[in-house]
Amino acid sequence: MFTLSGFVILGFFITSGLCTVYQQLSDLSEKKFDFVIVGGGTAGAVLANRLSEVKKFQVLVIEAGPSDEGVLDSQVPLFALNLQNSPYDWNFTTTPQKFANGRRVPYARGHILGGSSSINLMVYARGTVDDYDRWARVTGDPGWSWDEMFPYLIKVERFVPPTDGRNITGEFNPVIHGYDGMTRISLPNRLELPFDTNVRAAADELGGNFEYKLDLNGGNPLGTTWSQATIGGGQRSSAATSYLTREVLERRNLHVLLNTRTTRVQRSSNFRSDGPEFDYVEVFGNGNKSRIFQATKEVILSAGSIGSPHILFHSGFGDAKELQSVGINPLVNLPSLGKNLTDHPSFQVDFAANTTELNVLANSTLLAEALEQWNNSRTGPLSNIANNNLIWGRLPTNSSFDDPSAGASSPHWEFIPVLNLRPIPDPHVVAIVSIVSPASRGTLTINSSDPFDSPIIDPAFFTAPADVAAARDAIRNIRKFFAAKTWEGYIISEAVASAHAESDDELDTFISGNFATTWHPVSTAMMSPKGADYGVVDPDLKVKGIRGLRIVDASVMPFITAGNTQAAVYAIAERAADFIKHDWACRKC
Ligand SMILES: Cc1cc2nc3c(=O)[nH]c(=O)nc-3n(C[C@H](O)[C@H](O)[C@H](O)COP(=O)(O)OP(=O)(O)OC[C@H]3O[C@@H](n4cnc5c(N)ncnc54)[C@H](O)[C@@H]3O)c2cc1C
Ligand SMILES: *[C@@H]1O[C@H](CO)[C@@H](O)[C@H](O)[C@H]1NC(C)=O
Ligand SMILES: *[C@@H]1O[C@H](CO)[C@@H](O)[C@H](O)[C@H]1NC(C)=O
Ligand SMILES: *[C@@H]1O[C@H](CO)[C@@H](O)[C@H](O)[C@H]1NC(C)=O
Ligand SMILES: *[C@@H]1O[C@H](CO)[C@@H](O)[C@H](O)[C@H]1NC(C)=O
Ligand SMILES: *[C@@H]1O[C@H](CO)[C@@H](O)[C@H](O)[C@H]1NC(C)=O
Ligand SMILES: *[C@@H]1O[C@H](CO)[C@@H](O)[C@H](O)[C@H]1NC(C)=O
Ligand SMILES: *[C@@H]1O[C@H](CO)[C@@H](O)[C@H](O)[C@H]1NC(C)=O
Ligand SMILES: *[C@@H]1O[C@H](CO)[C@@H](O)[C@H](O)[C@H]1NC(C)=O
Ligand SMILES: *[C@@H]1O[C@H](CO)[C@@H](O)[C@H](O)[C@H]1NC(C)=O
Repeated sequence: MFTLSGFVILGFFITSGLCTVYQQLSDLSEKKFDFVIVGGGTAGAVLANRLSEVKKFQVLVIEAGPSDEGVLDSQVPLFALNLQNSPYDWNFTTTPQKFANGRRVPYARGHILGGSSSINLMVYARGTVDDYDRWARVTGDPGWSWDEMFPYLIKVERFVPPTDGRNITGEFNPVIHGYDGMTRISLPNRLELPFDTNVRAAADELGGNFEYKLDLNGGNPLGTTWSQATIGGGQRSSAATSYLTREVLERRNLHVLLNTRTTRVQRSSNFRSDGPEFDYVEVFGNGNKSRIFQATKEVILSAGSIGSPHILFHSGFGDAKELQSVGINPLVNLPSLGKNLTDHPSFQVDFAANTTELNVLANSTLLAEALEQWNNSRTGPLSNIANNNLIWGRLPTNSSFDDPSAGASSPHWEFIPVLNLRPIPDPHVVAIVSIVSPASRGTLTINSSDPFDSPIIDPAFFTAPADVAAARDAIRNIRKFFAAKTWEGYIISEAVASAHAESDDELDTFISGNFATTWHPVSTAMMSPKGADYGVVDPDLKVKGIRGLRIVDASVMPFITAGNTQAAVYAIAERAADFIKHDWACRKC
């Protein structure tokens, strides 16, 4: 009897499992849900999971991109860069950047279940104590402080050993990690590379700014650290693979609609006074057919820092004059929408190296072997991200700029030492620099009333002099780092592109000609205190001035974190799920 009912339940789940992921709009007949989540990305996947834990909530997630299932480039860590300019990328570009003499910068965003967490480079860096404490200060909500966000950072995380079986004691701080969460985090495999040994020896030899830190995720990463990544069992752990597992997708109250693009949120003619004010969600799906879905409790925008404001502009939210100038009828005056776009600009400094360490990306025989190894055991060179270490630094304290960072624990620059980044046989070392506490602020706008037109993305990189100063400081520190005795005979010379840049002006020319982004846009729908006359959402992530619409994604950060942004997005989404459950009187969950 027991066994039989087990079978019945299993059969039932399999059937419903097939029904809760819809490949196209025409496959879904229901029109009304309690919650409609726009965007099945990093934050959207967290919300989908947490809200559907409550059996009485009917939850719909609408994702523009396809499923991540079977996408090898999204599984194999070292293949991550192949995902750009692919069907899984929105393929945006920036406006001509002033500091780059008009050059445009490619601007990848995930277009796939899991969003950018399915195409990103997997570095896991929470940001600092001061980053979160600044959020608490500027929003007036102590719940955004490091101490109060810490339980959410833990809730996200399932720290697992790397697949090479080594003892990782002494390479991380066990007491600051979570072991029962959803997203797998791990240290890299195969640390016996001479390159990694030299990085650590240089940190020990130079000390000071470069001194070795046990764990980058303790709230103050300054110094040299092991990298940690969203990898578990040798493969990418994305919001889709971790929060939307098969088991979760089999929940009968969760509906995930793929390949369907949301264009607007709208007011229905008869919206209820106890429900959301903008309760309609307009979508376009297969055959370019449009449909309206209705949310009876909340519409939640999780379309990311580009997608969420883009949808809102076309729905009549934003600066009223700017909307009118492109022919959109303004409904909700929110002048801050799309303003304060903040991102981490990035560039690379190359060095020639004298080493016999092989570059799997430059040799098809080796690559095939490595893929076979990965496929068989999830080990070997493809099971890691490109870097095993991260170095974090600040401008000197006597710098003549207003400090744009959140405080003394927040780095101004991140320096990622990578061996053999490019698919070329000549051994090379690349220092990837990212300006992680930028002062520059850009904008996201639109120039047409057609929601299928791309938004206008202007991160205004390096328009603040402090960011240029941080970039020069990073380059000078990189040179010091590679001048350590331990690199003698290993680092041969700096590549010509930057080698002769010594003065500030020469360095600026190099930076100007070479920078791109680390794809960390935030703050386009920033939080501000309740009642403030600027900002887009309140500290509970509800859009100001109206009822029942929340934004939950990277766009709400009031300031960028001085670290790669995904960890903070996961934690924001976990806290948001608690807000929503609390508001809808779900006391036991
Ligand atoms: C190439 C790349 C590398 C990165 N590397 C790192 C890294 O190493 N470490 C790190 O911490 N961070 C990294 N990031 C940043 C990090 O991934 C993001 O900050 C984070 O994933 C953003 O989460 P989100 O929920 O705000 O948006 P996303 O995860 O981008 O989710 C938004 C989702 O909404 C969907 N969507 C958008 N518009 C619509 C619409 N109109 N209709 C329906 N669906 C829509 C999108 O397709 C997407 O699935 C990287 C990002 C990129 C793109
Ligand atoms: C992005 O560009 C690639 C290469 O041109 C293309 O194959 C892909 O379909 C584009 N992505 C989207 C979402 O259109
Ligand atoms: C790992 O190493 C630490 C310290 O060297 C030791 O205390 C611990 O027992 C080891 N763990 C295993 C599983 O061998
Ligand atoms: C889909 O339809 C909309 C509205 O009719 C139109 O603006 C858009 O260009 C169409 N898209 C495609 C891909 O045909
Ligand atoms: C941008 O952010 C700053 C806080 O850093 C805030 O004072 C300002 O009002 C914001 N600008 C807009 C247009 O919202
Ligand atoms: C690729 O690597 C294999 C195995 O190490 C080696 O025999 C071969 O010469 C390499 N090919 C090239 C083009 O370097
Ligand atoms: C991985 O191995 C399986 C069988 O074990 C095989 O079917 C598949 O083609 C392999 N994939 C790759 C990318 O080698
Ligand atoms: C800061 O101090 C360093 C030495 O400690 C000095 O070389 C540099 O010129 C000073 N910079 C400024 C802006 O005062
Ligand atoms: C809007 O911007 C895009 C991209 O920058 C450009 O191609 C297009 O011509 C612009 N349209 C208008 C109406 O200005
Ligand atoms: C390259 O490395 C080899 C072996 O370590 C060493 O003998 C040689 O001197 C190095 N070459 C240079 C140019 O430093």
